[in-house]
Amino acid sequence: MEISSFFIFFVLLLVHCLMASTAVAVRTNITTDQSALLALKAHITDDPYKTLASNWSTSTSTSVCNWIGITCGSKHLRVTALNLSHMGLSGTIAPQVGKLTFLSHLSFRNNNFHGSLPNELASLRRLEVVSFGLNNFSGMLPSWLGFLPKLQVLYAYNNRFNGTLPESLGNISSLKVLHLSTNYLSGRIPKCLGNCTSLEIIRLDDNYFTGEIPQEIVTLSNLTEVTLANNSLTGHIPNATFNSSNIEIISLYMNQLSGNLPSSIGHWLPNLKVLYLWDNGLEGIIPNSISNASMLTELELGANYFCGSIPNTLGNLRHLERLNLVNNHLTRESSTVELSFLSSLINCVNLTSIVVANNPLNGTLPILRGNFSTSLEQFVAFNCNIKGIIPREIGNLSNLMTLSLEDNELIGPIPTIVGNLGNLQGLFLQNNRIHGSIPNDICHLRNLVDLRLNQNKLFGPIPTCWGSLSSLRNLYLDSNQLTSIPSSFWSLRDMLRINLSSNSLNGYLPLDVGKLEHVTQMDLSWNKLSGEIHAIKGLCSLVNLSLAHNKFQGPIPQSFSNLISMERLDLSDNNFSGEIPKSLIELKCLNYFNVSFNRLQGEIPSRGVRNQFSASSFMGNQALCGPPQLQVPPCKRSSKTTTTIIVRYILPAMIAAILAVFLIFVLMKGQKRDAKLKGQGDLLSLAEWRRITYLELEQATNGFSETNLVGKGSFGSVYKGTLSDGATVAIKVFNLNREEGFKSFEAECDVLCSIRHRNLVKIISSCSSNDFKALVLEYMPKGSLHKWLYSHNHFLDMLERLSMMIDVASSLEYLHHGCPLPVVHCDLKPSNILLNKDMVALVSDFGISKFLGNEDSMTQTMTLATIGYMAPEYGSQGIISTRGDVYSYGILLMETFTRKNPTNEMFAGEMSLKGWVRQSLPYSVIEVIDSNLLKRGEENFNAKLDCVLSIMQLAMACSTETPEERSNMRDVVTTLKNIKLKFLKDVGED
Ligand SMILES: *[C@@H]1O[C@H](CO)[C@@H](O)[C@H](O)[C@H]1NC(C)=O
Ligand SMILES: *[C@@H]1O[C@H](CO)[C@@H](O)[C@H](O)[C@H]1NC(C)=O
Repeated sequence: MEISSFFIFFVLLLVHCLMASTAVAVRTNITTDQSALLALKAHITDDPYKTLASNWSTSTSTSVCNWIGITCGSKHLRVTALNLSHMGLSGTIAPQVGKLTFLSHLSFRNNNFHGSLPNELASLRRLEVVSFGLNNFSGMLPSWLGFLPKLQVLYAYNNRFNGTLPESLGNISSLKVLHLSTNYLSGRIPKCLGNCTSLEIIRLDDNYFTGEIPQEIVTLSNLTEVTLANNSLTGHIPNATFNSSNIEIISLYMNQLSGNLPSSIGHWLPNLKVLYLWDNGLEGIIPNSISNASMLTELELGANYFCGSIPNTLGNLRHLERLNLVNNHLTRESSTVELSFLSSLINCVNLTSIVVANNPLNGTLPILRGNFSTSLEQFVAFNCNIKGIIPREIGNLSNLMTLSLEDNELIGPIPTIVGNLGNLQGLFLQNNRIHGSIPNDICHLRNLVDLRLNQNKLFGPIPTCWGSLSSLRNLYLDSNQLTSIPSSFWSLRDMLRINLSSNSLNGYLPLDVGKLEHVTQMDLSWNKLSGEIHAIKGLCSLVNLSLAHNKFQGPIPQSFSNLISMERLDLSDNNFSGEIPKSLIELKCLNYFNVSFNRLQGEIPSRGVRNQFSASSFMGNQALCGPPQLQVPPCKRSSKTTTTIIVRYILPAMIAAILAVFLIFVLMKGQKRDAKLKGQGDLLSLAEWRRITYLELEQATNGFSETNLVGKGSFGSVYKGTLSDGATVAIKVFNLNREEGFKSFEAECDVLCSIRHRNLVKIISSCSSNDFKALVLEYMPKGSLHKWLYSHNHFLDMLERLSMMIDVASSLEYLHHGCPLPVVHCDLKPSNILLNKDMVALVSDFGISKFLGNEDSMTQTMTLATIGYMAPEYGSQGIISTRGDVYSYGILLMETFTRKNPTNEMFAGEMSLKGWVRQSLPYSVIEVIDSNLLKRGEENFNAKLDCVLSIMQLAMACSTETPEERSNMRDVVTTLKNIKLKFLKDVGED
């Protein structure tokens, strides 16, 4: 075996020597290089920024050496470096590149090249640094790579290379960096890599390698990094791995490695900074000697089978920043009941994160007073059988953002000192035996997003100061013995989830509950709440509401039918009486409905055969009737028909007659009186439609004065006005000198009058005569997104921008997919996105929008949309479709996060906003992001970077040139919501 492989090697060497000598025999010069480069150019099928198209040309007299991406040697004037990185190029590599025989640096990094690497490149025997990274190359890694005698750096990460690694790689004694992460490579990691004695960095993570880690590679004396994570490696970690004086990074997580750590593990690792062994099958103890690896900053051993105690010498690791031992069988030192390893860590002044959850630690929390008190951000120790009280000294951890001690055996009260933890965003103490009242001091936690105190023994009222927890989104206080809800509770308008079930809460449900406009889940079941439920306004995001097992009474309010997002409604086991409102049961999304055990009567409204709820939804009521499958008596037809006749025919006739008389009376009284009567209408509820007179508008705007003017466009002008009832509105007066004015009034009226969505600007009224047309719209006090992006005294942070983009996407989703006829907005841009007082984004300006009929697109000749945001097919052929909006939305996303207008002068030439963003993806996205939004080194940098990267990738998927390839708004909304969730999770808000 040995001999035969040696023989093959010898033959290959011979062949290569021959090839090299023939290469010399054919005399090559700069003309050869030029024709090789032109061949390379000819193999490129897409050059989106026309980099090569315009520059690599023989028509001008410039030498090859002046072409973009080319460097020539100073003496011999031959091409020595070819750098095509980040150019967005597609195509294959021309074999002629093998003629560039003086090449020492070659980079195709971050393009869309595909196909395999041509064998002709084997002639490039001067190559030192090669990068194929971040492309779509496929096939096996060629064995000639191993015969490049000067190769020092080989990057081929993030491609589709498959098959095994060529053994020939072991020949390259000059190789320092081998970076092949994220491919489809498989088979064993060849032992012969151990012959590459210069190797410093090996990265083979995210592949399909199997078998054991070869001892030969971890003994390489210059090795500083070995990253083999996320493969399927098995067997023991060679002990030599932990006996390597230069090693700084050992990353072997997510494999199937087994066995123990050597007891001398830390003795010979003087430079080790990062040790990632999580998610393997390692067992045995964590040796105390690990504490001798004194440079260690990150120690992550989670998700293994480690047992024994957590060494209380870990505090010797003075540089430690992150400690993660989650999901093992670790316990405390047996000599003391305290978790003494925690006491030892107080010396680690840079420690930011301790995660030890899901271990049977079985001890008490020590007094945490020490040097880490200002650095620690995260302490996660749920499900650890922690006993005793929460020590007062927890209040010293002044930078703590997450405190997660749920599912333990903690007793005693919540220490009032938690009020000192001003940065706390998540407090998780659920499922313990904590008792006492909730301390008022909790109200000081202005940054608290997530509070879970459920399943404890808390009693007494929820503190009256609750309204100051203004960041709170998720609140779980269920299964305690709390007695009352303060009125300030309902002022937390950003709440998303509330669970107060299974307490002893009493009192009424106030009207203010409607202020929780974003709440999606609200569970108030199993309490002693009582009284009638009044008309509920707002709550339009509510998906799941349970009021079960309380003492509510009176009718089920009709206004429940405004809860348009509702999927689950449980009103069971109360004293509700009267009939079930028909409008309620028709709610489109409702799929669980329970009114059992009340005192309801009358006919159960029918919901069509297929969506029928079952008998259990209605049982235990006194006098409900309906179809037999609901196990209620049939409704009595006779009495019903008489009522029906009265309701259907006689009543309307009577009302009509009365109205007619009234109308005649009013008409006789004259016009002025008429206007006045209407003025007394139900103006308080702005959602109600009413006509308005020119006079009223004139008064509202001080005679359309200049001071009330807030915007002007080709369609006309927008004024801020105050109606006679005090309501502030925006009044859009259309310019009727131009035909567009008429058209846009009609278009906008058609759209806004027929649809409604919380992210569409609401129309309040219109005023239309032959020579004056105006719309009265909801006033948006915060102005437009454009203003917020570009004026210097405004700033929107990551979450605000993301939330606004979700708002806009939701409204488009509704326009495209949720309306009876799809609506295309056609003019999406930051100045058409307005912000209400709560900074919720609403889409406005439907002046050129279009209803689509049955076709999925239509063509129109005149294009009025805005340059820069317009989809290519709209600009060139006037094709209108929902996909055009998706394109504009993609551009909008880019603009919102880069703060660069697509018509900015930097995009005057070949480069567009889209091209500029695309060439930055994925590795230099930071270069294009609004620098106010993201700076290196700031808090949560990685989470933010991840977030904007995902957003920019989505923006690309929205703004592809061909409409068929674009995403749709349904998917966009889902993706964005997921990006937001991930972001919140990454910054520790969830
Ligand atoms: C390069 O060599 C070719 C012949 O192989 C010759 O025709 C040409 O003139 C040479 N060009 C230069 C710039 O020396
Ligand atoms: C490598 O991928 C190609 C397709 O790109 C496939 O034809 C070939 O069988 C794969 N080889 C191995 C060893 O998986």
